[in-house]
Amino acid sequence: MNHQKRILVTGAGGFIGHHLVKRLKADRHWVRGADIKYPDYESSPADQFEILDLRKFENCLLATRGAVDEVYNLAADMGGIGYITACHADISRNNILINAQMLEAARQNAVQRFLFSSSACVYNQAKQKEAEVKPLAEEDAYPADPEPGYGWEKLFAEQLCHYYHWDYGFETRIVRFHNVYGPLGTYEGGKEKAPAALSRKVALAENGSEIEVWGDGEQTRSFMYVNDCVEGLIRIMASQYHDALNLGTEELVTINRLVDLVAGIAGKQIKKRHNLDGPQGVRGRNSENTRLRQVLGWEPSIRLEQGLAMTYPWIASRVVGQAAAEMAAD
Ligand SMILES: NC(=O)c1ccc[n+]([C@@H]2O[C@H](COP(=O)([O-])OP(=O)(O)OC[C@H]3O[C@@H](n4cnc5c(N)ncnc54)[C@H](O)[C@@H]3O)[C@@H](O)[C@H]2O)c1
Repeated sequence: MNHQKRILVTGAGGFIGHHLVKRLKADRHWVRGADIKYPDYESSPADQFEILDLRKFENCLLATRGAVDEVYNLAADMGGIGYITACHADISRNNILINAQMLEAARQNAVQRFLFSSSACVYNQAKQKEAEVKPLAEEDAYPADPEPGYGWEKLFAEQLCHYYHWDYGFETRIVRFHNVYGPLGTYEGGKEKAPAALSRKVALAENGSEIEVWGDGEQTRSFMYVNDCVEGLIRIMASQYHDALNLGTEELVTINRLVDLVAGIAGKQIKKRHNLDGPQGVRGRNSENTRLRQVLGWEPSIRLEQGLAMTYPWIASRVVGQAAAEMAAD
């Protein structure tokens, strides 16, 4: 059995944080969750769950108090491509406050290890101009030309982790997620990502009808199922590796293919109406997992079709239930 640790998960009211808390509790650790909100769709199994605005230093000190061994710092102001391309000032300010102050509070409270959740949005944009993109290896973040706002903040926060390691010997870990999806993820309201947004649209569409797809749909991405993400986080925290590591799959798909996969799982014929004015982000992005394999001897393995087959029914049951409730209320 695992040695029981005292673990803080920030962003525990969010998608990945909530899944991580569930896994850490199943592994019998003592867990504190911190967030500005509770999880949206079910209650947290954390031993303590504290509502704290981590943009404030005193709250970061509170969150890290009491001999915490490990911090998974997942709190962030973030959303899908529509959101992160529209709100650069708020996102950058909120996130740099959270990350800089969580690092310092964790150091002052003698936390043993600190994991920072970075993003594939740190990668140099010039290297992501083709749909048939060369997968991004960790060094492709430099020379720096990340996505405005969200990506620049993540890249600087990565550097801060390095500085804390170099100057204080503080044990930091840096994970670059590539598009995580799964049940209990946001699927409406503007902060949802492509797999959830497209699942919602397909669930609400009649068989044979059409849905809107942003861009021409030929833009490419890789997507990681949340259980792989949680497994990778725990393995990276346990590793001795301080530099940034990709955590994603190498299974590159176009957004059009993603729609077809979801429609296939739903058992519907769905046509696509392409909105060329919709935000689409970089043209192509894939994870290169060579270093991940070297460091962990492991990489995410859940195929997209498999993961979508576990995600779509959850989203469909929610949106169809909501639509029925709205009709009954009319
Ligand atoms: N999901 C992805 O595909 C993806 C990709 C790249 C990076 N990431 C990173 O992974 C982490 C977790 O992402 P997620 O998908 O679970 O997002 P999420 O939005 O579901 O979770 C983030 C949580 O942080 C909380 N938060 C925001 N501001 C806060 C504040 N001031 N104080 C305390 N809590 C605050 C939010 O309330 C939310 O519950 C984030 O750092 C995100 O940038 C996620």
